[in-house]
Amino acid sequence: MTKTTNREIRLASRPNGLPVKANFSIVTNELPPLQEQQVLVRNLFMSVDPYMRGRMNEGKSYVPPFEIGKTLDGGAVGEVVESRSAEFKAGDAVTSGFGWREYFVASPKDLHPVSRAVQPLSTYLGALGMTGMSAWGGLNLVDVKAGDVIYISGAAGAVGNVAGQLAKLRGCKVIGSAGSAEKVKFLLDECGFDAAFNYKAGPVFEQLKLAAPDGIDVYFDNVGGESLEAALSALRVHGRIIACGGISAYNNEKPAPGPSNLFNMITKRLTMKGMIVRDWMDQQAEFEKEVGGYFQAGKLKNEETVVEGIDNAVDAFIGLFQGKNTGKMVVKL
Ligand SMILES: NC(=O)c1ccc[n+]([C@@H]2O[C@H](COP(=O)([O-])OP(=O)(O)OC[C@H]3O[C@@H](n4cnc5c(N)ncnc54)[C@H](OP(=O)(O)O)[C@@H]3O)[C@@H](O)[C@H]2O)c1
Repeated sequence: MTKTTNREIRLASRPNGLPVKANFSIVTNELPPLQEQQVLVRNLFMSVDPYMRGRMNEGKSYVPPFEIGKTLDGGAVGEVVESRSAEFKAGDAVTSGFGWREYFVASPKDLHPVSRAVQPLSTYLGALGMTGMSAWGGLNLVDVKAGDVIYISGAAGAVGNVAGQLAKLRGCKVIGSAGSAEKVKFLLDECGFDAAFNYKAGPVFEQLKLAAPDGIDVYFDNVGGESLEAALSALRVHGRIIACGGISAYNNEKPAPGPSNLFNMITKRLTMKGMIVRDWMDQQAEFEKEVGGYFQAGKLKNEETVVEGIDNAVDAFIGLFQGKNTGKMVVKL
């Protein structure tokens, strides 16, 4: 095999507020022939995720920032085209951190083999991937159990809908909020939520109170802002908060003020725990057994929104902040 023509997305400039297409460039290049112990992979699906917005800013966080002029990275699932390693052969399906490109060359240690029996393979970016594990890890973090009343914001998204389905399987009463009537219907009809509301249709606290007149035990926070304030007011004594994300503020140019009712933490002796999915990686086998088992048994659905082609990957990413996805947003390459 000689050269492979690849297209990839690079960061052209750091966004101010909501990213725009001019913050990115698409570049065509040739990959060199393989060396010993190298594997050539063609990506089939790549992930776009809200956390990538934080990496587009300058400054240190829990993951290093993207660099201007360099290729972006992120979750991807692909197939081996050619291998000069005994560990992989052509046709093997693999996940990797080499998203935002059509092809790449890697060493075997950077590839994780996955089964083609799971279809579509993009499920490894959703329910059986990073976002599914975030949902599962979040519920475990505060020991969500049968009888808990749990409110999930961003509920129709990748993490939220899986968190809700898993909480139902644990025997919880599950309430979700999302940004459209269609998404509310999806939560009620397809994910088995007990109640759901459109956070754009009225004050979150009022709508949450109607769904949970006696309060909630757990809040799974994907959004922050008004949803977090509503939850602080609705939580019962000894309630728990899973701090997973705060997408409502990711494009703010100045930090947003904190919740005005934080004093509830004291009066109700609440617990709020921060969650980073990476901390759960050593429990991958347990996650795959439990959540993979539900998926194989048809008890858990992997909802996704599929955007076609690397040319549309930036739009897919920006679409996360405009509510354009139901379930996991993935790009088919
Ligand atoms: N801590 C971790 O390790 C970890 C891991 C994965 C994800 N996360 C976080 O979890 C959250 C969900 O991630 P995801 O991958 O599942 O994304 P997602 O929910 O699939 O996609 C983003 C969704 O957020 C909603 N949204 C956008 N702007 C909003 C706003 N201003 N206010 C309220 N909702 C808004 C949109 O839905 P609507 O139509 O409902 O507005 C959109 O579809 C994010 O905050 C992410 O950063 C954290």
